[in-house]
Amino acid sequence: MAREIRKVGVVGLGTMGAGIAQVCVQGGVEVVGCEVSAELGERAAERIGHFLTRAVEKGRMEQADRDAAMGRVRLTTELGDLAGCDLVIEAAFEDLDVKRELFAELDRLVGDDAILATNTSALSVTEIAAATERPERVVGMHFFNPAPLMALVEIVRTELTADEVFDAAYAFAERVGKTPIRCHDTPGFVVNRVLIPLLNDCVRVLDEARVTPEDLDKGMKHGAGWPMGPCELVDLVGIDIHIHASEALYAALREPRMAPPPRLVRMAQAGLLGRKTGSGFYTYDE
Ligand SMILES: NC(=O)c1ccc[n+]([C@@H]2O[C@H](COP(=O)([O-])OP(=O)(O)OC[C@H]3O[C@@H](n4cnc5c(N)ncnc54)[C@H](O)[C@@H]3O)[C@@H](O)[C@H]2O)c1
Repeated sequence: MAREIRKVGVVGLGTMGAGIAQVCVQGGVEVVGCEVSAELGERAAERIGHFLTRAVEKGRMEQADRDAAMGRVRLTTELGDLAGCDLVIEAAFEDLDVKRELFAELDRLVGDDAILATNTSALSVTEIAAATERPERVVGMHFFNPAPLMALVEIVRTELTADEVFDAAYAFAERVGKTPIRCHDTPGFVVNRVLIPLLNDCVRVLDEARVTPEDLDKGMKHGAGWPMGPCELVDLVGIDIHIHASEALYAALREPRMAPPPRLVRMAQAGLLGRKTGSGFYTYDE
């Protein structure tokens, strides 16, 4: 019988970790969020509070439910405070050494039957798990950005992940309202493995067909039923982030379509990173 997941640790409360913590507390689960400084932790809690307040204002949530959810968030800067967690989801920097160090420490701190999960997008879950003495209790739980709004979570198993752990991670994702899918540890997992080369093709078509970003986006929305055009999407993700993910996939699989298109690299060099810098394929006011 899988142990019931009552308390979840989230390591790193940046873009993804804060969103994952929010998903958990909204799902009725206690969260201990760990950041490198109290200030960063508080900033994340404020972002969660703000998001939930907007949900109340829009009539999507009761004030009492918002307050109860916020009451389930505890902040710390000490990894040791995650000792009583049944599941720890790591969402720290995308750096193998950082993650391996964290997993080795978490392995020493949490109970023997706790599950350790990483939200990595492009690193090997297997290599992260190998930093622990419990690789059978390590999985990938790959949430999508923004985690509170995107339904999908890829539940990623290595060759060593125990079935019971894999099933418990899947069940947990469902319990907090997400739509999980199961896959094995391979570069890009499922969605990024397909989407990244496809977006790179879209960028290359801009030059090949001499089509404008506006027309390409119209094409994919109205001809292929995409909810958002590829140029809008790359701007939203961040051109630097997309390039980084492309490079990681290319390094792992060596398919030319995975290499970042030169046009994107030039945009990044010029500081045109998309929405976050106010301009990418499009310009933004805010
Ligand atoms: N941003 C995305 O679109 C996205 C989507 C899916 C998965 N991911 C993955 O999620 C992870 C986090 O990405 P992000 O975009 O949220 O990054 P981010 O830089 O916004 O947040 C990372 C946070 O981790 C904290 N941190 C670093 N080391 C720590 C430690 N030892 N202890 C506690 N906190 C620590 C940092 O202070 C920072 O606030 C990465 O592995 C990334 O690949 C990102």
